[in-house]
Amino acid sequence: MCGIIGYVGSRDCVQIIQSGLSKLAYRGYDSAGIAVCHEGDIDLRRAHGKLENLVARLALEPMRGHTGIGHTRWATHGRPSESNAHPHRYGRFAIVHNGIIENFLELRQELIDRGHTFASETDTEIVVHLLAEYYSPERGFAAAMHDALRRVRGSYAIVAICADFPDEIIAARQQSPLLLALGEGENFAASDIAAVLAHSRQFIFLEDGDIARITPSSIEITDISGKPVTRAPKSIEWDISAAEKQGYPHYMLKEIFEQPQKITDTFRGRILEEEGLVNLDEQIAAMHIEQSKRLQIVACGTSYHAGLLGKYVIESLARIPVDVDVASEFRYRNPIIGPDDCFIAISQSGETADTYACLKIARERGAKILSICNVMDSTIPRASDATFYTRADPEIGVASTKAFTTQLASLLLLAIHCARAKNTITKDRAKSLLASLRSVPTHMESILAHSDQVRAAAQKLLRANSFLYLGRNIHYPIALEGALKLKEISYIHAEAYPSGEMKHGPIALIDDRLPVIVIAPKNSTYEKTLSNLQEVKARGGRLISIVTEGDDMLTRVSEYAFAIPDCDELIQPFFSVLYLQLLAYHIADLLGNDVDQPRNLAKSVTVE
Ligand code: G6P
Repeated sequence: MCGIIGYVGSRDCVQIIQSGLSKLAYRGYDSAGIAVCHEGDIDLRRAHGKLENLVARLALEPMRGHTGIGHTRWATHGRPSESNAHPHRYGRFAIVHNGIIENFLELRQELIDRGHTFASETDTEIVVHLLAEYYSPERGFAAAMHDALRRVRGSYAIVAICADFPDEIIAARQQSPLLLALGEGENFAASDIAAVLAHSRQFIFLEDGDIARITPSSIEITDISGKPVTRAPKSIEWDISAAEKQGYPHYMLKEIFEQPQKITDTFRGRILEEEGLVNLDEQIAAMHIEQSKRLQIVACGTSYHAGLLGKYVIESLARIPVDVDVASEFRYRNPIIGPDDCFIAISQSGETADTYACLKIARERGAKILSICNVMDSTIPRASDATFYTRADPEIGVASTKAFTTQLASLLLLAIHCARAKNTITKDRAKSLLASLRSVPTHMESILAHSDQVRAAAQKLLRANSFLYLGRNIHYPIALEGALKLKEISYIHAEAYPSGEMKHGPIALIDDRLPVIVIAPKNSTYEKTLSNLQEVKARGGRLISIVTEGDDMLTRVSEYAFAIPDCDELIQPFFSVLYLQLLAYHIADLLGNDVDQPRNLAKSVTVE
């Protein structure tokens, strides 16, 4: 996620903004910049790469001012580069922005037709051009912002400055966090508490639709129509480490709780519900992956589990054969792949050495190459014909959570796209699936509210030496992912099996010391799974189940039962995996482990 800080007051703001940006660095970024109002104009410095590059630029070309904005960018539209870095300046304005402007292509065309020229590939730059378009000195800065934002669709946290109003910053929020920090004769705007904690403990958290006009001594907040709104300040007593984790004890827990928002971001601009269509980037659509004879998915770790789930959804909806391989296996088995196939690399980081090696093999043999990736312009996307970006923002906890669910969301969108292109599902079925997908974030929120119940179960389970995870069909990859999460951070042995395969071996393990986690919501294989559960119960196994809301029967026979909503089978994994992430997290935390940096593991494995 990009980071924002804005300052208006009497101190020289460059140092304040620069040190605020350094507090945002933990979130990950690929470029940074600062703009200030100075002597009737706007000064701007930006640099690609680390903050040190920006600091070095400022040492060579210093600037001063009392009102300014700064940004750390993590690319989503347009590659990481100096020209795409924020702030973006045009006319009398400069702005920084987090989020995604969905209708930027049409607005960009409209502005080009009116004579504007653009200096970056970003969606953000549209907003600064709109400000210039709507601005008149008589009506003022805030009025221009209201007019500009009325044209914009999407999500944003925006902070802007105007050379004609050197004692004012304007901040606006729509579905992307933004807060104001209150000082004596100075005020701040920021995306995170961490950026401004050194200066204030009093915060106003803006809400969707709020536009704030901020001066050194006043804050006026209105809605988009200009009607005043009141937001009460809150005191926060966090230290800097708590602030970076937004009050959560670990990054992993923060990232688990971010999933509803991140999935909303993955979907943004990509779902055309009325038409029952998925709106893909031109480059991806142009690949016509639905015409491939076969899809070959390759990945490692958690991304591999997403790939396995991809096989279920793509085969079932689009009827295209899909093979899924662990990268370290694929690369040494002289795989069969060629020009009729599409190779899909799934990688959160885009840097995993084994996955990249496989991509090169597929390239040599003439396959089309698509990647599903979270880090823009990383090695794997650069070597691909096109990339579907998951938009999960940087993931800091080593155990992957939001990267996984956004990969699932991406794969479902691809599956629906292929199915519609091949006519293997009707428009109505696509519409209903897309509507189900849209409901995922809301249901996820309600499941996350049960985190304390999962912790209570974790307390009772944490002494077990081993866990068995069972799932069928689309839930088998989720069982694998649940077992992986537990192993990674609790160091307790766990293995996952397809429920129907239990009788061929793991059943021998079952006794009253073995917790068996069964994913058994009502779906096409529910009845089959029930008989597997009987087999566990009959041998005295400790049954922990994930059930459909209202499944009293299964709830009764389970030591713990966690409910997911009664919903389309294809979206059930989004909910079952949340419980498994929470269970692993709470067990590891209660055991006192280093949840964010588990022993022996690396976030990005760039060596073989
Ligand atoms: C490492 C990480 C895992 C990740 C895997 C693949 O093992 O610890 O969380 O799933 O690499 O990484 P990628 O970036 O390619 O998805």
